[in-house]
Amino acid sequence: MDPLTRYLETHRERFVEDLKAALRIPSVSAQPEHREDTRRCAEHIAGHLRELGMTRVEVVPTAGHPVLYGEWLGAPGKPTALLYGHYDVQPPDPLELWRTPPFEPTLRDGKLFARGAVDDKGQVYMHLKAIEAHMQVNGGLPINLKVVIEGEEEVGSEHLERFLRERRAELDADVIVVSDTAMLGPDQPALCYGLRGILYTQIEVTGPAQDLHSGHFGGAVANPANALCAIIAALRDGDGRITVPGFYDKVRTVPPGEREMLRNSPFDEAAYLRESGSPGPWGERGYSTLERITVRPTLDVNGMWSGYIGEGSKTVLPSLAAAKVSMRLVPHQDPVELFPRFEAYVKKLAPPGVTAKVLDLHSAPPFLTDPAHPMLEAARRALARAWSKPAVMMLEGGSIPVMATFEQTHGLPSILMGFGLDDDQVHAPNEKFSLSSFHGGTRSVAYLYEELARGA
Ligand code: BES
Ligand code: ZN
Repeated sequence: MDPLTRYLETHRERFVEDLKAALRIPSVSAQPEHREDTRRCAEHIAGHLRELGMTRVEVVPTAGHPVLYGEWLGAPGKPTALLYGHYDVQPPDPLELWRTPPFEPTLRDGKLFARGAVDDKGQVYMHLKAIEAHMQVNGGLPINLKVVIEGEEEVGSEHLERFLRERRAELDADVIVVSDTAMLGPDQPALCYGLRGILYTQIEVTGPAQDLHSGHFGGAVANPANALCAIIAALRDGDGRITVPGFYDKVRTVPPGEREMLRNSPFDEAAYLRESGSPGPWGERGYSTLERITVRPTLDVNGMWSGYIGEGSKTVLPSLAAAKVSMRLVPHQDPVELFPRFEAYVKKLAPPGVTAKVLDLHSAPPFLTDPAHPMLEAARRALARAWSKPAVMMLEGGSIPVMATFEQTHGLPSILMGFGLDDDQVHAPNEKFSLSSFHGGTRSVAYLYEELARGA
């Protein structure tokens, strides 16, 4: 075993302890009551980067949550990687469904349970531990590294773009590296070459000026809850296609070769569907499950509220009904162009007697990088070394808003090398990171730095 691999093996347990310390900080970006915790988490990781030997470590304030920056530029003549990750997490709710508290990281059956375990603190720590190993074993890194870890990914990365633009010159690099995606199975490493974008909206339907007695007024004035249901029902047709005019105009036609590759990828559809806990598959007619979550867009209600939802019954005609409706977009759909179309269509669908208002909560364009780019060779070699198996190329259904921004600010090849698993309960209660993924991922990242130094 080479010294680097031996170091990673010897210090496994402490790596997990170091990760746990970060997981104990509830850096929930969406909730104002966690603002201070979120800042504290950035400071905590900054302290760790300094301990590792990174230089110019800064916690940079923004109009939102701070951005964490660090660098190590001691490998002149070698490539520079810009590493991106996020230290913020999704809200832990519903709390009562966690087997152990979300911010008290707990090991069970070789898995580490906590909010942020895999998304994305655990994956950020794979890099920190790979950095540590190189520093300790070799006295430095094989490449130059610039690290940007933000605190607003889970709420749309609103203030990161400004940071990237203002510091564009300092952030020059040869390749972007991100670990915030998944593997195709516990032993199947994957490289992601595309992500869906998102358009997240809120529909508010109002009718009567206040709640009304449903006997005295019901039948005579429009009910916003019924109207909202009618609007939402009309947003998709019987084939699962979205009816917003022009919605599919820019959807990329997947070349036959790529469709073939998707069809042949070792995606375990049965396991994936079992993991969902749904009684059966569902989706757009004419597409496979894998295509539905990668190359096809979606429209989903993420939450809705109206009227009385307490115990028992209340005969009320609500004055307001609202829903959070998001669309996952695929290359080359443009959320900025789609929002006004969506808004106009929803207003048109609103039945007489109510008023519909549509808000644009946040959006991110889809992302696609060249799967054949030579820079990805280094990642393929690293993954093959770490897992004794070639990596598969895949598209992901989730979104990482900054990827499209990087496309504009840097225009570099991107290595999306993630180690999540389908059963990680990302964004849900009992989120976990399997230790086999964490350690295998750390090894992969340590090798990636070496392979990048070796060249494309
Ligand atoms: N790590 C995820 C993105 C992801 C999810 C990649 C699943 C691959 C598979 C990321 O942290 C995330 O959840 N992003 C949000 C972004 C949104 C709030 C703009 C998402 O996709 O919901
Ligand atoms: Zn996430």
